[in-house]
Amino acid sequence: MRIDIITVSPGLLQSPFEHSILKRAINKGLVEVHFHDLRKYAINKYGKIDDYQFGGGAGMVLMIEPIDKCISELQSERTYDEILYMTPDAPVLNQAIANNLSLKQNIIILTGHYKGVDQRVRDKFVTKEISIGDYVLSGGELAAAVVCDAVIRLIPGVIGDETSALTDSFQDNLLSPPVYTRPAVYDGMEVPKILLSGNFPKIDEWRAEKAYEHTKNIRPDLLED
Ligand code: ADE
Repeated sequence: MRIDIITVSPGLLQSPFEHSILKRAINKGLVEVHFHDLRKYAINKYGKIDDYQFGGGAGMVLMIEPIDKCISELQSERTYDEILYMTPDAPVLNQAIANNLSLKQNIIILTGHYKGVDQRVRDKFVTKEISIGDYVLSGGELAAAVVCDAVIRLIPGVIGDETSALTDSFQDNLLSPPVYTRPAVYDGMEVPKILLSGNFPKIDEWRAEKAYEHTKNIRPDLLED
């Protein structure tokens, strides 16, 4: 998979890709991530990429021309399966969206800033808009990093034990059951006996029950679907 991220703040985005699972995925050649500084495509020598909104109102809007130049350059080199735009006024990211994106070859992620992008960018280029939650971030960069993490860890070979990504919370609309490790007793607190029993069918049953209970208590909305 190849991911091209268009941003006005490349520095804000790089660090998550230099650690842990994302770094390993890149080093193993399972994913390539490229950052494109929108200012390189500015409309003048002063680096202009945004302007006031028509109709008045506070906040700057990213202009279509620099974004068009950047996307067109990328599209002249390869075909993209999806052009994502990170914005709070969009459907919220979930596991189904992450699963779907993990099957794509080439993706562009456009991150907004200030008041966002000229609507014509969304109309002309964007194929999928994603929010990471009902709150407003200062820009789409951190949201793009969240999407990349959720997607890249699903690519076969990225996580050592592949079953582990498949048993994550949300893969089956249920939250994960509780997990325990050594010691079996800590400060009088005991690990549930069933987990020490070696009876794996019973352990699976216990986990399914706990996952259901936990989901019912914390996120009953997930059980409605
Ligand atoms: N940009 C600003 N806030 C955002 C959010 N909640 N999700 C995605 N992109 C954003």
